Amino acid sequence: MRLRLGARLRGEPKNVECTPKLSGNRRLLDIRRLLNKAVALMVESKTNDLMERIVALCKRRGFIFQSSEIYGGINGFWDYGPPGAELKRNIKEAWWQTMTRRRDDVAGLDATIIMHPRIWEASGHATTFADPMTDCLLTKKRFRADQIDPQSGVVYHFDGAKDATPAGAGKQCADPYAVLIAPGKHPEYARKVARQFYQQRGVANPELLGERTENVENSTRYNPENGSLLTEPRQFNLMFKTYVGPVESAENMAWLRPETAQAIFAQFKNVLEVSRQKIPFGICQIGKAFRNEINPRNFTFRSREFEQMELEFFIRPDEAVEAICGHVAKPAGPGHPGAPQPDWGWQIWHQYWVEERLRFYESIGLPRASLVEYWQKPEELAHYARATVDILYKFPFSKRDEKGELTGEELEGIAARGDFDLSQHQRFSGKGMGVYDEELKLAWPRLAEAKKAELSNRYYEARLRYLGKMGEPAANAERQAREDAANLARGNYVPHVIEPSAGVDRLALALLCNAYCEDQAPDEKGKMESRVVMRFHPRIAPVKAAVFPLLKNKPELVSKAREVRDLLRPHMAVFYDEAGAIGRRYRRQDEAGTPFGVTIDFETLGEQGPELKDTVTLRDRDTMKQQRVKMNELLPILSEKIR
Ligand code: GAP
Repeated sequence: MRLRLGARLRGEPKNVECTPKLSGNRRLLDIRRLLNKAVALMVESKTNDLMERIVALCKRRGFIFQSSEIYGGINGFWDYGPPGAELKRNIKEAWWQTMTRRRDDVAGLDATIIMHPRIWEASGHATTFADPMTDCLLTKKRFRADQIDPQSGVVYHFDGAKDATPAGAGKQCADPYAVLIAPGKHPEYARKVARQFYQQRGVANPELLGERTENVENSTRYNPENGSLLTEPRQFNLMFKTYVGPVESAENMAWLRPETAQAIFAQFKNVLEVSRQKIPFGICQIGKAFRNEINPRNFTFRSREFEQMELEFFIRPDEAVEAICGHVAKPAGPGHPGAPQPDWGWQIWHQYWVEERLRFYESIGLPRASLVEYWQKPEELAHYARATVDILYKFPFSKRDEKGELTGEELEGIAARGDFDLSQHQRFSGKGMGVYDEELKLAWPRLAEAKKAELSNRYYEARLRYLGKMGEPAANAERQAREDAANLARGNYVPHVIEPSAGVDRLALALLCNAYCEDQAPDEKGKMESRVVMRFHPRIAPVKAAVFPLLKNKPELVSKAREVRDLLRPHMAVFYDEAGAIGRRYRRQDEAGTPFGVTIDFETLGEQGPELKDTVTLRDRDTMKQQRVKMNELLPILSEKIR
């Protein structure tokens, strides 16, 4: 429904100029624009409505609470209640299983949140991990400058204001100010806002000075909520600061990590040594990260404390692959490239990880159609990245494109980062981050001289580019790059890396949005009633099975039900519920997203015939179908379904 409404937005003109007098055509355009705006507002309010219902359910069922709620909350921080905590554990468990336990080529790590501050100098976070911030000159509300929607209209500029009353004679403010108003809006609105601005600056009855107008298109310099001019954007570092030990001095200053990745790079050599891995191989980690976001928003989507699931997958530089295999395999086309091969270069490894990650999301219930594979444009790439693919999920609050389709918001980024990270830690720590590759050492002498020269030169050029970009003096950079090229010929290089980096909380939110469904189901008497059902994939559902004795006051039913609960409990999260009518109990579990209900009834006790003794009713949340299952077959049946 929302999509169809959205499709009607297609004709919305984007940059409409403001003209005080409208010609016939202009008037028509304006009416059309207003209609489109009304439709857009309807779509947006439906979207907000849906999001509001999801947020309400999260609170009602205890998935997510505001942190420190009893003290009025703290912006950008969230707590997970009982089913939310289970959901997050299941997400992390599914990721860990997929990324390391079921693979031979990935090892796990669990590193500290606070690390040596030099790590963040090497990674670039200390100097460049910043967002542009701007404030509304009227309300002081803070925005991320790069997230302001471009607006068009007429800007009313003022040079200042003086007090218009005898009592305030002489009071004046010479601060320039401006207000943007949408085409067609009355100019008096701009003046009213401007008067408020000057009142805040001590001019009680402002008479505005030097009014003039300017048509602007796609400007991000004005507050989208009230049109007020914003301050010039300034850079704001997103890392949280703290001090190690009792003295709050510069030398004791440390950062809370803004990503888990850097610990992986810092521990690369240790893990390599103890895990007996060879390139290509990966190290993965799940853990907390902290970012002092300027504008936390969209529920948990942009939080200040969150969890990441990151893999750093180390690969040979393409020159080493070519020396060993005689060529470098590149992607043959879209889709999964299959099992890893020794001749893969960075591009095919990158594609492999994008496809692996998409498969993961599908395996936990996010349909492919809800995901978008977004290839960053060259101008969007970080300076060290060769390619980055963002996997987006179409959240209800995502923006819509001109066709009215949800565009999606980032769930995960998969970046090909070259050898930037390990090289940086090598430079900053003075410790070698290179590896010795026996196959390369053996392959090199067998190469033709021209090939040796070509590969050496390519490698030298790449290293020189990196060192130059990092500000190494030219002579140093050249000497170092020559040394690196000579090392390559001896089988040594700094590994390159592919980094799939995902957020636990964003994924939890995507799964909550995806699961949320309102439909009709029969009540006890067969009358249809509306229900909210969370259609979680059984693999990540917080509780896998709910166990119900049909009646609470029949001790035989209750003790059998407890027996079933105890049978399942060591293997999965089970919820036991004996309170209320059975229909109500089903509804409660539907809303909690429990995929299976197990009811112990009189058949279980053998009262309806010996052949039904020790059988239970197994109800499927989504189909609402019920089947009779032998108690001793229940565990294998459910285990298979939740795997
Ligand atoms: N090491 C690379 C890195 O950290 P990122 O794109 O900044 O890359 C990776 O973050 C993922 O972490 C994002 O795709 C998102 O899922 C999650 N994430 C980042 N900032 C977040 C925030 N403020 N709140 C919740 N999740 C966040």
